Amino acid sequence: MKKLLKFTVLLGAGLIVCSCKGDPTLSRDVKNYDDPLMQNEKEISGIISKMTLEEKIEMLHGKHYFTSEGIPAQGIAEMNYADGPFGIREEMEPLSWNPLHWSTDSATFFPTGSALAATWSTKLAYKYGTGMASEARLRGKDMILGPAINIQRIPTGGRTYEYLSEDPYLSAQLSVGYTLGVQDNGVAVCIKHFALNNQETNRGSVNVIVSPRAMREIYLVPFEAAVVDGNAYGVMAAYNKINGTWCAENPNLLDQILRKDWGFKGMVISDWGGTHSTVGSVTAGLNVEMPTSDYMGLALLDSVKAGIVSEKVIDQRVREILRVRMVIDPVPAEKANKQMTGQPENAQITYEVAAQSVVLLKNEGNILPIDLGKVKTIAVIGDNADKKMSNGGVGAGVKALYEITPLAGLKNRIGDKAKIIYAQGYTSQQARGGFGGFGGFGRRGGAAPAQPDNTAQKLKDEAVKAAKDADLVLFIGGDNRQWETEGSDRRSMDLPYNQEEVLEAVANVNPNVVFIAVAGAPVDLNRVQACSPAIVQSWFNGTEGGNALADILIGKISPSGRLPFSYPIKLEDSPAYATGSFPQTDAPVNQDVFVSLVQKDDKAEEMLKGATGRGTALYSEDLLVGYRWFDTKNKPVMYPFGYGLGYSEIEYSGFKVLNSEYRDGDDIQVEFTIKNLGKYNQYDVPQIYVHRVDSKVEWPYKELKAFQKLELVPGMSVTLIMDVPVSYLKYWDEDKHDWVLEPGKVELLLARDAGNVVAKAECSVK
Ligand code: BGC
Repeated sequence: MKKLLKFTVLLGAGLIVCSCKGDPTLSRDVKNYDDPLMQNEKEISGIISKMTLEEKIEMLHGKHYFTSEGIPAQGIAEMNYADGPFGIREEMEPLSWNPLHWSTDSATFFPTGSALAATWSTKLAYKYGTGMASEARLRGKDMILGPAINIQRIPTGGRTYEYLSEDPYLSAQLSVGYTLGVQDNGVAVCIKHFALNNQETNRGSVNVIVSPRAMREIYLVPFEAAVVDGNAYGVMAAYNKINGTWCAENPNLLDQILRKDWGFKGMVISDWGGTHSTVGSVTAGLNVEMPTSDYMGLALLDSVKAGIVSEKVIDQRVREILRVRMVIDPVPAEKANKQMTGQPENAQITYEVAAQSVVLLKNEGNILPIDLGKVKTIAVIGDNADKKMSNGGVGAGVKALYEITPLAGLKNRIGDKAKIIYAQGYTSQQARGGFGGFGGFGRRGGAAPAQPDNTAQKLKDEAVKAAKDADLVLFIGGDNRQWETEGSDRRSMDLPYNQEEVLEAVANVNPNVVFIAVAGAPVDLNRVQACSPAIVQSWFNGTEGGNALADILIGKISPSGRLPFSYPIKLEDSPAYATGSFPQTDAPVNQDVFVSLVQKDDKAEEMLKGATGRGTALYSEDLLVGYRWFDTKNKPVMYPFGYGLGYSEIEYSGFKVLNSEYRDGDDIQVEFTIKNLGKYNQYDVPQIYVHRVDSKVEWPYKELKAFQKLELVPGMSVTLIMDVPVSYLKYWDEDKHDWVLEPGKVELLLARDAGNVVAKAECSVK
């Protein structure tokens, strides 16, 4: 691993305990690093010199839906790709989406993106990557189609649950962790979707108009970090256009930014069906059209033969693929698929991630943790209590080896210490109208048969009855994988089905309600607030999610998750909605590009040829994404970015900045003491934001620039030094096309979350 650990613990006299388990901050310092991708250039030249033009072209498009060709004549293996970000996808027929129903391809279901991000743990992101890589190897895969690291621009985004955060720095740190974890274990990542795939609505045709500054400072940051600090070997070009040009043929994106500015040496593949041209794509830097050969097959061969594309360009594209091929050892056929994909040690990783991801939002009267000495009957209510979340959506489903639901977890952990009565309360058998235009596709399910009239009433009555007889109600609601899905955005943050009505009826007979939102994105909590003394945000939380949630609810572990996004009071408050830039009104909603690809009908042809070019997403909030907007505009939120409670109280004191002046190249150092005043082992996440004082350049009010997850046993006190590299304070100067440091005063803010600044200290930068 080439990363430096930018984290210091001072163990001075008078401190109570002298050890502290902290997570490394992943730094951009890449000195003394020999890029593995560049070790085989000579050999690669030799290989290319022996190839025919036809052999070269064969490598530049999909062979099967999840493979691209190698060089059989020279014994060079094809590339095998695997979805997706949170589990190795089941095996499908080579040229269809039909599963092969193997008995050995059940995998570990890892918590989805926003869950991983809620851990705020680079260490866990790394472990997550190691687990994903080990299962990819068991299945003979070379490249994982993940991590998915677009910024969560809108709370309703269909893939918010797959993506990490609304904040570029948090997303970047976790992207680097995931990337290193995968690539240190013999598999390549493919960071996706490059770039600005921040909405699913018309994702296959939308044109994103964004300022260069917002692009560099917000949307590209996680990609840049994964490339520069993580040395990601693969990149997936997104479906959409940026400033008028499709991502898969965008020279600014693929050539200037990715290869020239960031020094990327690896390979770029298109999203599935996201290629729109031959000459433009190959010259801009696309290496592989996936999964088809419409543009980079015969058409490319003809273009080279006609002298429109130089063979030198083809050689370069082949070289970039071979660089990756040479550092990823192919899994020998006799070793692949010999044992079950899902492995127990990876289930343990999913437990750790889930256990650190759950966010305690509210805990009036310390209703949590559940006191099993007193609480003898627990009503567990809600469809999500017993719903599996490994599958659904479109591309990112996992055929899970097993998945512990919340109900199963509670039964496992509580055993005979209390009686658990389960009532479903409501059913999720209702189709959702999204913006994306899926009528009903594959596993996503579509319009379900209408419920007989009395079903809802019957389920509600059962829930009320269960609640009446119980000491405590755990209402487990939220969204599910049909509701939050690739290919379409939610129309609102409203909790689906009639769960709020059931919740209110339940709370009427038993006020001791803990509401648990199982969701990958923010949901509307206004009605929930009024009738739930405690609220917990859980996630699509992987194979061991139910056990981890139960351990938190009963106090075996203290919650330590922090929100990776802001929780607006109402959707209209959030930036893209407030500025009217989403949903777009300049175009009707199109059929989704991926569905079109799968259906291969006339509409598909139209979509794939890019003939429809609909919708313009004007990112008019500019830099003010997520908390940057709420802060700068002074808008209240339901829960701020970075927020989360624990069972122990943590005290911060003595915050100071170590020097009064710093220069470019320095690290600003802040020091403070953190103490666990409670009786639980507690992970905490101190956050350092930067606020510019008297700046001429326009900035968001504050920006996250450092965080640290660390564990403190009861009574433990630690003095920490955290670094903020001065280079992180630069802005993208649109005239100079470069990063520029604005000299002046900055305030370093020690915060528990974006809404709770505990202390400030000032210094100047030059
Ligand atoms: C998704 C990608 C995915 C690919 C292959 C596309 O629809 O956008 O994230 O990797 O399908 O399944």
